[in-house]
Amino acid sequence: MSDRPRVVVTRRLPQPVEDELMRLFDARLNPDDEPLSAEELKQAIASADALLPTVTDRVTAEVLGAPRRTRIIANFGVGYNNIDVEAARAQGIAVTNTPGALTDCTADLAMTLLLSVARRAGEGERHLREGSWTGWRPTHMMGTKVTGKTLGIIGLGRIGQAVARRAHHGFGMRILYHNRTPVPDEQIAGLDAEFRSLEDLLAESDFVSLHCPATPDTRQMINASTLELMKPGAFLINSARGDVVDEAALVDALRSGALAGAGLDVYEGEPAVTPALVEMDNVVLLPHLGSATTETRVAMGMRAVANLQAFFNGDPPPDRVA
Ligand code: DGY
Repeated sequence: MSDRPRVVVTRRLPQPVEDELMRLFDARLNPDDEPLSAEELKQAIASADALLPTVTDRVTAEVLGAPRRTRIIANFGVGYNNIDVEAARAQGIAVTNTPGALTDCTADLAMTLLLSVARRAGEGERHLREGSWTGWRPTHMMGTKVTGKTLGIIGLGRIGQAVARRAHHGFGMRILYHNRTPVPDEQIAGLDAEFRSLEDLLAESDFVSLHCPATPDTRQMINASTLELMKPGAFLINSARGDVVDEAALVDALRSGALAGAGLDVYEGEPAVTPALVEMDNVVLLPHLGSATTETRVAMGMRAVANLQAFFNGDPPPDRVA
């Protein structure tokens, strides 16, 4: 029997991360990569010192209320709305995440969505692949110019700031932002970013990009009433969490032409996507790829490992959120 801490890892992780977990811990990997059921999660926390879950695991109060040995949950991801953090805190279980590791790649993906939907890249690619392209013509697939437009960022944390830098320095965009509290000037130097109320940001922005966490306060923040405030012909980009957007209301706004398009990487009922969105050519849909680069996924895993190591060495885990 191993005297190393037992860690249940709920999904396959990049090989170097799994190797490191095996080297340091009594790691129980998931070679089949099947998501764990609530029952399996309960068994995991009953038998392991630590759980290393991902966004696809619902670590609910019920799961955490079951008999347990687990003392730390090291989430693989910066967003941790998959974990009932209040319940974990009440049970004295530490929770950590992986901030920083995925900032650049998630910001790159938000720009991918923004550019793709504005310039009709997905639609154009489908058109070409299905053999419908008959050649260049001046009025073919005219999209919307991005350079110099106004980008409204909701949630100017690490990822929101990285998007703002790309948009402002790379595409000359004017940056507006809405945040729980205004961000200190020195943190956003050179961006000329202007704070706005949510209402004003929606009314003034040509593109609105969501970068806030999923919390009870942000749940369906983009709904029928707030969509109505958006500038006619604007675009919505969501690479944060599906919970922030009421997808049915978004479909209505796209159908009526109030919005010109949307670029989405995350969904309310992931991996299910509202079927009407799949039918729309002015919507770019990606399968939650924000952090999906080899470099970033390895870095996220190593960060989770560092949190576990610190905890079991008796040190404060660097990314403790509860
Ligand atoms: C994150 O880190 O939040 C990604 O969306 C995966 O969970």
